[in-house]
Amino acid sequence: MAAARLLLLLLIAVVVVVFAGPTTTTTLASPSPALGEELLAAAGAPGFAGWLSGLRRRIHLRPELAFQEVRTSELVRTELDAIGVPYEWPVARTGVVATIEGGGGAGPVVALRADMDALPLQELVDWEYKSQEDGKMHACGHDAHVTMLLGAAKLLQSRKDELKGTIKLVFQPAEEGHAGAYHVLRSGLLDDVSAIFGLHAIPSLPVGVVASRPGPLLSAAARFAATVTGKGGHAGVPNDAVDPVVAISSAVLSLQQLVSRETDPLEAAVVSVTLLKGGGAYNVIPESASFGGTFRSMTDEGLSYLMKRVKEIIEGQAGVHRCAATVDFLEEELRPYPATVNDDGMYAHAREVAEAMLGEANVRLANRTMGGEDFAFYARRAPGAFFFLGVGNDTTMAPVHSPYFALDERALPVGAAFHAAVAIEYLNKQDCS
Ligand code: NI
Repeated sequence: MAAARLLLLLLIAVVVVVFAGPTTTTTLASPSPALGEELLAAAGAPGFAGWLSGLRRRIHLRPELAFQEVRTSELVRTELDAIGVPYEWPVARTGVVATIEGGGGAGPVVALRADMDALPLQELVDWEYKSQEDGKMHACGHDAHVTMLLGAAKLLQSRKDELKGTIKLVFQPAEEGHAGAYHVLRSGLLDDVSAIFGLHAIPSLPVGVVASRPGPLLSAAARFAATVTGKGGHAGVPNDAVDPVVAISSAVLSLQQLVSRETDPLEAAVVSVTLLKGGGAYNVIPESASFGGTFRSMTDEGLSYLMKRVKEIIEGQAGVHRCAATVDFLEEELRPYPATVNDDGMYAHAREVAEAMLGEANVRLANRTMGGEDFAFYARRAPGAFFFLGVGNDTTMAPVHSPYFALDERALPVGAAFHAAVAIEYLNKQDCS
């Protein structure tokens, strides 16, 4: 018994020593406030910050829509050439994937991502650098995202010799609805990445503040387009026609019960019908009519369920009203987005880096929202974290996707430094473990 007890004590001692080891290592690898301060100071120096504002304004003047980011892509490559960073291009048509290889080519690979596309929106902000492209505007801050990642490229390149691994900088096309991230991943250029981080400008937070949360952050999102066909005829003789307008009206109301009657009240889901088209005269029942919209869930399973039921309800309601329906989820063209789910470890890492750089009070817990983000595709491929970066001040109150969207350019050095610090510290941590 005594021998067995001694053996047990020894075993416990070994276990304690083994578990004590990493604790010490973690302490050593904690993000350094000094590094954060140095990067912030470098990016905020007048010459550097002026370069960042200039880049952002040039991109803002000439917004380009999904997969058409030709000039933006060229600007990215010209700047990377000037900084001395090699890249692959074209990736997914207009994308650029740059590589800063530290650690003599050894060590892990971490990726940072920026999206490049603008929105089909007329800018209504009157300022010197207002969009010169009719009906196109950087109203989601992607001009700032590109700028901040170029800023990170410059900061990281200047510290290349100290890096403990490789950093890939992803300038991706077509975030707005066209799943550019999915197409970038298909290139295989990110297959060796062990973690990925992304930022999004948000005007509801002031400059110098970042926010995110572990786990689900943004919703999975998909679209549907349906056509309901009946039999056209005289509106005064409805009994000789089969009315698709009534069928669609029933379907729209039934779809609203998916969230209220079939979704767990504690789970988040949305079904919105956003377009309806049918008929061309007051006295004619049209042969067919169409409608469509979006549906969202905080989980991929929830999205699959909604997809199945949206189709069943539209086809069922069409049948009740003697019509036929086709339902298209536009999967090839617009590809549904999965939920953006932050990896607990990567979220904790980026939060620690932000706290060291900006102070604990300036790192907040974000609310989940039902917006979609194609960063979700990356976060499914490798552990990832997506953060909101404050770009607001007292005068920039319009939300993203508003024609009045504006941002405070003092956020640009903060984003560049945060990007760089997250990557450097990630590689440092891997090196210690
Ligand atoms: Ni966006």
